[in-house]
Amino acid sequence: MCGIVGYVGPKRAEEILLSGLARLEYRGYDSAGVALLTPNGLRLIRQVGKISNLAQAVQEAGITGNLGIGHTRWATHGLPTEENAHPHCDCTGKIALVHNGIIENHRELREELLSRGHRFRSQTDTEVLVHLVEEEYRGDLVEAVRRAVARAVGAYAIAVVHVDHPQEIVAARLGSPLVAAATPDEGFLASDVPALLPYARAFYFLEEGEVAQILPGGLRVWDRHGRPKEVRLREVPWDPLSAEKAGFRHFMEKEIHEQPRAIADTLRSELSTPWEEGLSGLDLSPVEHICLVACGTSYHAALVAEYLWEPLLGLPVSAEIASEFRYKNPAVGEKTLVVAVSQSGETIDTLMAVRGAKAKGAQVIGVVNVVGSALAREAHAVFYTRAGLEIGVAATKTFTAQIAALELLGLWLARARGLLREEELRQAKERLSRAPRLVEEVLELAPQIEALAQKFYTYPNFLYLGRGLLYPLALEGALKLKEISYIHAEGYAAGEMKHGPIALIHEAMPVVVLYSAQELPEKVLSNMQEVRARRGILLVLADHVNPEVEELADHLLRLPPSSRELLPFTFTPALQLFAYHVARLKGTDVDQPRNLAKTVTVE
Ligand code: M6R
Repeated sequence: MCGIVGYVGPKRAEEILLSGLARLEYRGYDSAGVALLTPNGLRLIRQVGKISNLAQAVQEAGITGNLGIGHTRWATHGLPTEENAHPHCDCTGKIALVHNGIIENHRELREELLSRGHRFRSQTDTEVLVHLVEEEYRGDLVEAVRRAVARAVGAYAIAVVHVDHPQEIVAARLGSPLVAAATPDEGFLASDVPALLPYARAFYFLEEGEVAQILPGGLRVWDRHGRPKEVRLREVPWDPLSAEKAGFRHFMEKEIHEQPRAIADTLRSELSTPWEEGLSGLDLSPVEHICLVACGTSYHAALVAEYLWEPLLGLPVSAEIASEFRYKNPAVGEKTLVVAVSQSGETIDTLMAVRGAKAKGAQVIGVVNVVGSALAREAHAVFYTRAGLEIGVAATKTFTAQIAALELLGLWLARARGLLREEELRQAKERLSRAPRLVEEVLELAPQIEALAQKFYTYPNFLYLGRGLLYPLALEGALKLKEISYIHAEGYAAGEMKHGPIALIHEAMPVVVLYSAQELPEKVLSNMQEVRARRGILLVLADHVNPEVEELADHLLRLPPSSRELLPFTFTPALQLFAYHVARLKGTDVDQPRNLAKTVTVE
């Protein structure tokens, strides 16, 4: 995680670095810093806490420069203190470096560098890199960086500046993302596109092992073997305004309300693609097993696809947690189709799962939101979700957009396997196109959901129950609540409750039940009876209300009825709004919850 920004050009670098860091704060926010090249040499300013603290310190220092690098940190090695905040400097104070990733052999390197007289000032793994650059520097900064990173084992995205090179930033990446951009007289670098959206619309996404030189007005790039590469910039269709709150209290609230558009855009762009074109590049004839890999919320979207696809495709389909999948020596090979789901396309656990499966001969489809991300580049075929930029750390619109994309992909696969005729495919797409309107209907229930949050926000524990397709949605509802409100919440398959979690139920335990006419309503009613018999508090979200539900529920939220494949689009926004209002009432940091980062590039 962590976020990096670099700037060289005629403007005040500190302003661009601070605005870029603020847009990358979702990547980590325990400390931050900048290094600026001033007429008096390199000036380092670092602060514990959020970017606002750093901005104040920069203002108080009253310094300015035309070249600089900045960093927002998510601590891995060493406490979030000022000494451990980036940038780090070499012994001479002439070189400064920022890093995102983990250097696995930092202990050996530190010992070696200490024995040669280098002085270390932090507990970070990163600091070895700047001393290695110092050791390798003989007047050519690009060469020094190339030789330094060749000694590092692990993952890195770095930016390096040197007082004797006032017109250049040198960057390198392996395993952690970096994008660069250039305008006629400026050069930019960042971990992710949002940081640079106010300044550029076309970007170069550094590939694994590449080294780049960012200059005013141009970029030079070398591949992992040191050969110069042609730099082709890629347009990113995101609007800079998407990085503003537009009258909403939090980005999360805004992004929840952007779901109808995110889903419609995802469906519209894919609806215009014939299925043969979307699946070109893949050979589906040997496929006997589909394996979806993902983490966190994206894993819940994958689990929704497992429930929808297995009966549709008549194949074994399994959703796997990527960080577990990659280490269990999975039985995948040429007969496996891997579908990797990731908003960022940079989650290292998901990427490593994909690389492992590819090495065994599996074909890979990426379902990705970020154009040009590592997963998009490494998959054999890509389905883009068109959710746009998501800034809130908690995934909302990207989740429902992922489900829309996965539903459509499932239909394509069914068509490709000869299980759907063209007319049936058209009808199924038609049904799916009702999803945005359904989400709008649920968003209109926001005042009722807020009133429910008012009743519940002081409870310390919650249980979420659902069956069938509503089970992954129960998991997602619980995840949303715990990550932004810090309330302990468990999602469970309703039928599993009697195998253990039922012991948790007492008169002060809220149980959120997802109830639909489409998913085993009689069984779920029995589970509600079991909660009631133990005096648990039943908060029922129901798309079909009969007298029994009405009688059992202590609190009831009526959702619009829909068909089975549309359930994620009615239940999810209600669960998101409930978590949002609980967190807001508790006063937590909704958009940047503690300990989290939007893009998880460490294992
Ligand atoms: O970028 P990805 O979709 O690969 O990210 C996966 C998870 O880190 C992410 O969904 C995480 O669980 C979010 N905080 C959920 O709100």
